[in-house]
Amino acid sequence: MLGKERRQEEKKISRRELIRGSSKLAVGATIVTAGGLLLGSKTEAKATYPWPYKKLDIDEVGKIAYETYFPKFCSQTIATSIFGPLREKIGKPYTTFPLEAFFWAHGGIEGWGTVCGTLIAVGFVSSLIAGEKDGRNIINDVMYWYSDNYIPIYKPKEPIKASIKSTTKSGTPICHISVGKWMEKEGVGFFTPQRNERCARLSADIAMQTTRLLNAWADGKYKPAHELLADLKQTGITGGTPFLLSCGECHGRNIPKVPGK
Ligand code: HEC
Repeated sequence: MLGKERRQEEKKISRRELIRGSSKLAVGATIVTAGGLLLGSKTEAKATYPWPYKKLDIDEVGKIAYETYFPKFCSQTIATSIFGPLREKIGKPYTTFPLEAFFWAHGGIEGWGTVCGTLIAVGFVSSLIAGEKDGRNIINDVMYWYSDNYIPIYKPKEPIKASIKSTTKSGTPICHISVGKWMEKEGVGFFTPQRNERCARLSADIAMQTTRLLNAWADGKYKPAHELLADLKQTGITGGTPFLLSCGECHGRNIPKVPGK
């Protein structure tokens, strides 16, 4: 029934729109618009951007992140640790956001070892809160922070899975390299309580660092620490990270020449 009603409604709208449109091209375009209009008029939902923010308690964010990691892994953990307290402080629209929508990004996207899943969520959260330009600056600064620090730093009161001793500097936001360097130093495999513990603490670090920047931003005190696309401009290729990880670390002595450089 609903489908039929909807089709009739669409017909009405598209007919009305068709009367206005004269060329064939315009006809195609108006049908699309008619569908959009229909949805809009039914739900009256309007996209808002950016979303409101209230400063968060950094230690609380870290604790939520650390505890959320074990069932939810790295990416959903970031969203939960920041949007969770905002659900309580602000309510809508945070209460309408499905945190599960981040789960797939764990392990550098379903275990593919690309960018660390925490950072995928940080990019989204920062943009949603700080808007397009400052959101870009915040994710850029967190990418640097992730790559250029010995982590994990976070120390839980009681470890949930294991005691661990190593910290490593990845030099890159790539999950595979970051977790691999740590596993090598700690001498443990991927499917161990230690590796789990490490990624939980690292998730807490990233959530806390992101919140530090968002809080500074809320106070009007956030100044980007790094220029956008600085590495790319210098090396002529994405992901160059020359300040952090030398080309030679992966390419050995035969660093390929970048066309155009
Ligand atoms: C994290 C490891 C890593 C780092 C660091 C890295 N690369 Fe690469 N790069 C690769 C891999 C893997 C390939 C694919 C190689 C292949 O298919 O033979 C590649 C491919 C390339 C290519 C394409 C041509 C080719 O021979 O495959 C260029 C150009 C290149 N890299 C330049 C650079 C430069 C310049 C830097 C430093 C600014 C750099 N890379 C840093 C891993 C890396």
